Amino acid sequence: MKLPVRVLIVEDLPTDVELAQREIRKVLPQCEFLQVDHEEAFMDALREFRPDIILSDYAMPRFDGMRALALALQHVPETPFIVMTGSMNEETAVSCMKAGAWDYVIKEHIKRLGSAVLSALDQRAVKQEKLQAERSLRESEELFRNLFQNHTAIKLIIDPDTGRLVDVNDAAVAFYGWSREEMLRMRVQDLNTLPEEEIRKRMDDVRNRRKAHFEAQHRRADGSLRNVEVFSSRIEVKGKVFLHSIVIDVTERKQIEAERERLMTAIQQLGEIILITDTTGKILFVNQAFETITGYSPQETVGQTPRILKSGVQDEAFYKNLWDTITHGRTWKSRIVNRKKDGTLYTESATISPVKTPSGKITHYVAVKRDITEHLELEAKFQQAQKLEAIGRLAGGVAHDYNNMINVILGYTQMAMAQVRNHPKLYEQLEQVLAAAHRSSEITQQLLAFARKQTIKPEIIPLNASIEKSLRMLHRLIGENIELAWHPGKTVGNVYVDPVQLEQMLANLCVNARDAIADVGKLTIETDRVTIDDAYCKSHPEALPGDYAVLEVSDNGCGMSAEVMEKIFEPFYTTKEVGKGTGLGLSSVYGIVRQNKGFIHVYSEEGKGTTFRIYFPHHETPGKILETRQTVAPVKGKGERVLVVEDEPMLIEVTREILKAAGYVVVTATRPEEALQIVSSDTVGFELLISDVVLPEMNGKELAKRIREHLPDVRVLFMSGYTANAICHFGILDEDVDFIQKPYSVASLTAKVRSILER
Ligand SMILES: Nc1ncnc2c1ncn2[C@@H]1O[C@H](COP(=O)(O)OP(=O)(O)OP(=O)(O)O)[C@@H](O)[C@H]1O
Ligand SMILES: [Mg+2]
Repeated sequence: MKLPVRVLIVEDLPTDVELAQREIRKVLPQCEFLQVDHEEAFMDALREFRPDIILSDYAMPRFDGMRALALALQHVPETPFIVMTGSMNEETAVSCMKAGAWDYVIKEHIKRLGSAVLSALDQRAVKQEKLQAERSLRESEELFRNLFQNHTAIKLIIDPDTGRLVDVNDAAVAFYGWSREEMLRMRVQDLNTLPEEEIRKRMDDVRNRRKAHFEAQHRRADGSLRNVEVFSSRIEVKGKVFLHSIVIDVTERKQIEAERERLMTAIQQLGEIILITDTTGKILFVNQAFETITGYSPQETVGQTPRILKSGVQDEAFYKNLWDTITHGRTWKSRIVNRKKDGTLYTESATISPVKTPSGKITHYVAVKRDITEHLELEAKFQQAQKLEAIGRLAGGVAHDYNNMINVILGYTQMAMAQVRNHPKLYEQLEQVLAAAHRSSEITQQLLAFARKQTIKPEIIPLNASIEKSLRMLHRLIGENIELAWHPGKTVGNVYVDPVQLEQMLANLCVNARDAIADVGKLTIETDRVTIDDAYCKSHPEALPGDYAVLEVSDNGCGMSAEVMEKIFEPFYTTKEVGKGTGLGLSSVYGIVRQNKGFIHVYSEEGKGTTFRIYFPHHETPGKILETRQTVAPVKGKGERVLVVEDEPMLIEVTREILKAAGYVVVTATRPEEALQIVSSDTVGFELLISDVVLPEMNGKELAKRIREHLPDVRVLFMSGYTANAICHFGILDEDVDFIQKPYSVASLTAKVRSILER
């Protein structure tokens, strides 16, 4: 509803008031009037009546039109003020208008008052609208100014033509460290570390595309550099283009990002698995190592639980303990056998810890796991080797003592047999003793081989040719039902091994293959040449890098289980029934291979057959094939004097008897000192010294040297059950030394002695 127009009439004459009211009512029927005729009432009316329009007489007895006008302009400048004059000339009217009146009406032409009032009210409306508009403009300008000036974001207004900073806000002043005045004298080029050229390009960019977002580095008053992100937009003020840039300091964020990236790269490239789950065990993160080790990609894993790796090896109690530990806020450590994506099992060493908030609430679990499968395998291999080493020492010691005893048995039995040729019954029984002694001797030999205590004479021999020489013997060993295939490798050259041991090894392996083949089958002997590198040696600690000749013996027999395979090199380990096998075959093969600086691997699967692969260092120098040792016939002596030094009394007796029977003069000593004494007090001299290698006080080699000081021409024969460093380096005899292996037969001892004396 429109309010009635309030008209204030400043007039002293009631008739004139009447006249004016009538005229106004003609155009504004709904209006209120108030009449005043002095200043006080006028002022009250301005305040209380609040007129929309003021009509005022020019001259009044108690008031004055000009004065009223001045007051109105001062207090209500927007209210139209119309002057009414009576007998007045135009000049008065003009002065009134000059003073600020909106219009004038001459009382004689009072009829014009209505239209004058209407037009004044219209003008007022227009003016008010304009004022209103101006006010809101002012207000919004102020608002924007405030927004710019007090905003927490750093803001710059830039002149794109020069780069000058036209305006900067408080945040900018605080951030850059220059005063506002200083900044307004600077250009954006002074802040940015980019070359001028580049900055210009960017400013043009914003000008053309209205908007841009880029990263930069800004310099501050203290010289420090900050990484910033700039959002720049184009604004137009009175036809002039400016750039409005909001600058965000991202230095810390960048540092955190870079740190995070570094951390992430490290975690990703770690050899250990890092796995993070939530409190329910749902996997949130796995690093690269997880995929490398388990085969599951992060996409397949995230969202799952670690149960995808469950192998079934651990029982429920194991997992319950794990959960109990970590849900109580403690770290859990253990080995776990898990299953990879491809189904294979692996062992990991795992540490699982809860991740807690400062107040102690568990938010995540993090697992650090290392695949120790290979490590465990290596450890097992190492332990196995150590075990064999220890057993070897034990076996070697026992075999050494046994050997001497067997020698005694052999010697006396043979001598007794020579005396009872006329008693067939007795002779036969002694033959049995001899056979048992021979068999015992074989066992001791194998034990010595395993213990790497066999006296060996390695030679550089062509591997293929050496094997070929044994083929006939091997054929006989394995019988007719088994096919023997021989595939010599073309590039295989020489190896440095004892040819007798090589044959022994082949025989052992072929007999084993024969036993593994139930009925008919195939045995393959193959040779090859391979180069072994550092990588291979890492997983095979017994190997050394280099060129190797490989001897491979395979059969398609019953194969072995993993449990059997673990023990086959142990002496006396056999799966054969009592009386069928002693379990020394592979032990001696193992010892022989190691003694000849080679190594052996076995591959076998139950029901599928077995392959033994033996590696010997390759030798370039060609060698000759050693002729198999001849069996020597017993030979009689010619009364030469022989000095025998041996610390085992029983053995010394049997040796004396054998030599005496063969026609020698024998003097014996059980200790080196005793032997030296005999030589120094003796006047006739000795043709031959037979000495054990290992003696109390001084070794055989040393003794021989000392005896030669008295008897420079004496010949020397060493005997031993096993090698000793005194005469052989690492079990290898010096080339020019005469040696007889214990136990020896009557024939071999007498033949050896004879051949030395006849030389
Ligand atoms: N080629 C093979 N195939 C299957 N099993 C084998 C083979 N070679 C060896 N073995 C297993 O290894 C065990 C040990 O072999 P090793 O040669 O040391 O002793 P042995 O053959 O039982 O007895 P010995 O050789 O002393 O007469 C055998 O009992 C057998 O179980
Ligand atoms: Mg065997």
